[in-house]
Amino acid sequence: MNAAVTARAHTNIALVKYWGKANTDLIIPQTSSLSLTLDQFYTETTVAFDEGLTSDHVSVNHQVLTAQQASKVHNFLNLVRQQSSRTSFARVTSVNHVPTAAGLASSASAFAALAGAASRAAGLSLDRTALSRLARRGSGSATRSIFGGFVEWHAGHDDLSSYAVPLIEKVDWPIAVVALILDPHHKKVSSRQGMQNSVNTSPYYPAWKQIVADDLAAIKPAILAQDFTTVGETLESNAMRMHALTLSAWPPYSYFNGDTLTAMQTVKSLRHEGIECYYTLDAGPNLKIFCEATNVATIRTRLAQQFGADNVIVAQPGPGIQFLD
Ligand code: PMV
Repeated sequence: MNAAVTARAHTNIALVKYWGKANTDLIIPQTSSLSLTLDQFYTETTVAFDEGLTSDHVSVNHQVLTAQQASKVHNFLNLVRQQSSRTSFARVTSVNHVPTAAGLASSASAFAALAGAASRAAGLSLDRTALSRLARRGSGSATRSIFGGFVEWHAGHDDLSSYAVPLIEKVDWPIAVVALILDPHHKKVSSRQGMQNSVNTSPYYPAWKQIVADDLAAIKPAILAQDFTTVGETLESNAMRMHALTLSAWPPYSYFNGDTLTAMQTVKSLRHEGIECYYTLDAGPNLKIFCEATNVATIRTRLAQQFGADNVIVAQPGPGIQFLD
């Protein structure tokens, strides 16, 4: 057996979303996107290639996956085998660290950690740009989880040109993201299915591409200037316009549930009361609320009263990929 390598990668929340692929095999997106890596949610993955194995062996959260459940991991390991001299199968052990059974374990942290651990275990020494490109092949959002802080994924046009770059890795700005868990279950429409459905059937998709370009142009200088209001307004409107693509697709669908709409009203009420905060949502009903650190206690208390303390998790900006001895 070859040496085992362990990597830890954190999940990220997109402030300007990736929603649609230009190339579904290589996972080249239609647009660039921008995210914040979060400290509270991460995946630790250990990989060892082993000549004694007759197939890839994958366990997630101490449960062994069936071949069908492990097919994405297996395909990803095939890529690593192609890029390296390894031909043997691998043992993959992955644990998601999420404070509660929150449905926040994400493919972003999972594939970023797998890219790091598998490539090193295979004897490759990839720089972070190459790691970002490799992680992209597992899941688009994983491209950005190689880096900490605010991260931009440049769409590019082919495998070589599509990767993430950090905008600010060490965030020296007292901000937080309050995650509100409204439904911990798996999403009914996967992001993979959902985004291509929007590309193919929403008449608003061309407008979305322009929105993303405009939002990136607005949010990057605002982040650098720590202009909280512009960052907040941009991320909230970007999220709602992404979700408008699902409502305008055919057949139409939505990731929101009833509580999602109630929670959006709560955020608006807080704003009316002078507690400035803004929400965003990915392909699911849970809100992530962007706020200044000084307002975390008030926001947490309000959400806990309404939705239960266990469903509120406060995160700060988090680091990029780490290798553990
Ligand atoms: O990485 P995927 O295929 O799970 O897609 C992520 C899509 C969103 O989370 C909704 C947006 C994003 O940019 O992360």
